[in-house]
Amino acid sequence: HWSDEERKAITSIWGKVDVESAGHQALVRLLIVYPWTQRYFSSFGNLSSAAAILGNPKVKHHGKTVLTALGDAVKNMDNIKATFSKLSELHSEKLHVDPENFRLLGETLVIVLAGQFGAEFTPAVQAAWQKLLAVSISALSKQYH
Ligand code: HEM
Repeated sequence: HWSDEERKAITSIWGKVDVESAGHQALVRLLIVYPWTQRYFSSFGNLSSAAAILGNPKVKHHGKTVLTALGDAVKNMDNIKATFSKLSELHSEKLHVDPENFRLLGETLVIVLAGQFGAEFTPAVQAAWQKLLAVSISALSKQYH
């Protein structure tokens, strides 16, 4: 269900994404813009201000972890459901993350990519990314009962 244009839009951008930096920025934005998401990261230490979130090494490391996992979706575009089956189970049964938060992280990531790529992040490219994120979020929400 992917057109050649969509595949190209996603893989060409992904090939240039700095996974560590973009993952960090997207997670930082999530924690600042939607502060209730901080409740899931109580083991991460100080998240008491925007500056604390930005400088928190666990946030930085975890941003990279999350975006690296999203890279698995890019590499397995035709099989995202199976790719995220285990992660869905983890976020549902162990971490009890409300799946609405997946959508919020998708939004902060799109903002980060738009900021990084500027004119290259055309509406068509954004549409392909939004679709990738929607499919990924649906897959991550699959094991919730
Ligand atoms: C852990 C991916 C969204 C909360 C993880 C891990 C991955 C991951 C790969 C590490 C799993 C492991 O250690 O085996 C993703 C992806 C997301 C996403 C791909 C969406 C695109 C979220 C959101 C939240 C969240 C929105 C909460 C607001 C957590 C927490 C952990 C975790 C609390 C455990 C962190 C720790 O203690 O180290 N996630 N995640 N995740 N995720 Fe997510």
